[in-house]
Parts: sequence; structure tokens; C-alpha cells
Amino acid sequence: MYKIAWMPGDGVGNDVMEAAKIVLDTLKLDAEYIHGDIGWEFWKKEGKPLPERTVELLKQTDCALFGAITSKPKDEAAKELDPSFQDKGLVYSSPIVGLRQLFDLHTNLRPCKAFAGNPLNYRDDIDLVVFRENTEGLYAGVEFHPVPKDLMEMLDKKHKKFGRFAKLDGEEVAMSLRIFTKNGCRRILRSAFEYAKKMGRPSVTVVEKPNVIRETSGMMIREAREMAKEYPGIELWETNIDAMCMWLVKNPENYSVLVASNMFGDIVSDLCAQLVGGLGFASSANIGDNYAVFEPTHGSAPKYAGQYKVNPMAMLLTTRLMLEWLGETDMAGRLEKVISSVITEGKVRTYDMGGTNTTLEVAEEIARKL
Ligand code: IPM
Ligand code: MG
Repeated sequence: MYKIAWMPGDGVGNDVMEAAKIVLDTLKLDAEYIHGDIGWEFWKKEGKPLPERTVELLKQTDCALFGAITSKPKDEAAKELDPSFQDKGLVYSSPIVGLRQLFDLHTNLRPCKAFAGNPLNYRDDIDLVVFRENTEGLYAGVEFHPVPKDLMEMLDKKHKKFGRFAKLDGEEVAMSLRIFTKNGCRRILRSAFEYAKKMGRPSVTVVEKPNVIRETSGMMIREAREMAKEYPGIELWETNIDAMCMWLVKNPENYSVLVASNMFGDIVSDLCAQLVGGLGFASSANIGDNYAVFEPTHGSAPKYAGQYKVNPMAMLLTTRLMLEWLGETDMAGRLEKVISSVITEGKVRTYDMGGTNTTLEVAEEIARKL
């Protein structure tokens, strides 16, 4: 029996997780689902959006299914803290970003496939898969404001280009470090190439910006070229992030597997999601060597919370990814087929697809067909 951490999180997270439960129960997955506290409520009440007990729970499970999370910028988040935690210097940081780093979930897999008959498709022939590096880059969390004096002085000494900033007071400067490691680059590239090989995909496109961000993007490109030699049947394409956004709007059907560092992958995966119907269809898996957390890409949409209005497809496609990762390939295949046919038939749809059905009615229709 699998042990699965069950974390609805904030807002519509709960609505879509209920939909997932209907489908999992119908599939009769042999699993125990254990609730985990996570999200805004625990930030406000306990000063920790990811309580220690939840981290411990995850350590005792095979994987986690996660709904959605509310994130707010630093100052807004601080204002909402319970008075007993005010002035304690607590700084909000996203629990999902925390989980990715804590459990070393290096690969963020985000499939974006146009299902036939989806009225929200940009084109019907899109089948993209984004591999987003998930533990480092601009998300490493190494940031400064004000920038400490010793760091300002050190950079002034070590780097000619820092000179024009070195004159400023540290308070006038903010700094977020973009950190890449060779290991980090290799892990995400390996995931992308292995996937392309397994699924018979023709190309892997590295989405970076090495002409400007020479050292970090440069490292990713160099590692990609090296690794591509091990995969003779797969073409390596190199496209800058800005041009990639343009090409994805112009000819998305030309691309297959995309691989990018953390922030570029974050950006380009939203673009890809919109090409196939928006965040209502965007599933994602945070995968490490021994653990994985599955979450739809969408946010918590607080204004729809508890109304069972939002499209559960992203969550159900995410559930599919979880089944696949657990090795339940038969269930995963059946679920994808039924999702696809419900989309194509168009009889049961949420408001975003022009329908009037609720989140749970969509799940029930899928369950019926299963
Ligand atoms: C995503 C989201 C998160 C991210 C936010 C909610 C922190 O945008 O999963 O793409 O930036 O990674
Ligand atoms: Mg995002």
C-alpha cells in the first residue's frame, strides 16, 4: 500500500484535491492518504507556511499530492502574521519552493499537450514538455538588501564591472544571486534527454541566454552540448529565452522537449500552459531521486475558493503524473485517455471551457468513464 501525503494547501487547492480523490478512489489505487498542513493559514497562525510536522510527515510517505499555495511579497506577508509573531523578523518564503530544495526535487516536469477539441487550445498540434531545474538558479534564495559592506568591498576588488555599484550605499543596492552548479545543470539535462529518448522525441531545446548571462547560462549550454553526444538520435537546439517566447507563439508545433534553469523554466512553462488552454490544464511534478511532490501549476485563486468552479483538469493530469511515477502505468494511461475523451466530447465542462459544470461534476464524469 502506498503512503501519500495529502496537502490541499490554500484556496481552490481543496476543491481540486477533492476532484482528485474521486478519481483515485475510482481507480482503486491501493493507498493511504495522510493530511499535511501547509500554506497561508499556517504562516498567519504559526509563522511557518511549511510546519516541521509536515516535513516529518513527508519523510514517512512515498510521495505527496499538493493542491495550491498563496504567495505574497515580503511586506504584505509580514502584515498578515498573527500579532504574536509580528516584529520577530520572520520572512515569508514559498513552502513549495522550500519543499523542492529541502527534498532535493531537482526535476520539475511540466507537460503541455493540446487535447483534441479543447476550445481553449491555441493550436491543436502542440505537445510540449518543459523540464525546469528546480533547486537552484534565481530561486536559490541567496539575496541581499541592504548589501553588506564587506560584500560590496569584496565585489569591488574582485570584479571590474562592480565598480559603478561600489560607490553606492548598500541600502541603495539589492542583489539576488543566480547560482548554477554543474551537478544541477547535468541533472535537469539528464532528465530531459532521458525523457526524449524514452518517448522517442526528436529534439531537446535548451532555453537560456548565454550571450548575456555568460557564466550561468553558459554553463548550462556547455553541459548540454557535452551530454547531447550521448544521445545521437536527438537533436540539441539552443534558443534564447526571449526568442523562445516569440517562437512558441509563432510555431509551437516545432518544439518538443524544452529544458531551462529555474526562473526561465518558470516563465516559459506558463507560456506553454497558455498555448494548451491555460493553467487549468497545466500539470507538474517535482521529482527527486527518491521522492516526488505533484502539484498543478496554477495558484490558489482565492476568489474562487470553496465554490467548486475551477477546472480540475490540471489537478487530474497531475494525478496522472503521480500514478506514472509510482509505476502504475496502466492506471496512468487509462486516466489520460479518459481525460482526453471528456475534453473532446465536451459534454461536461467548467466555466473556463464555456461549460456550466462544477469541479466535482467533471471529476465524476471522468470517474464514470473509468
Ligand atoms: C510555479 C509557481 C511558483 C514558482 C510560485 C508559486 C512560488 O509560479 O510553480 O511555477 O515560482 O515556482
Ligand atoms: Mg510559475
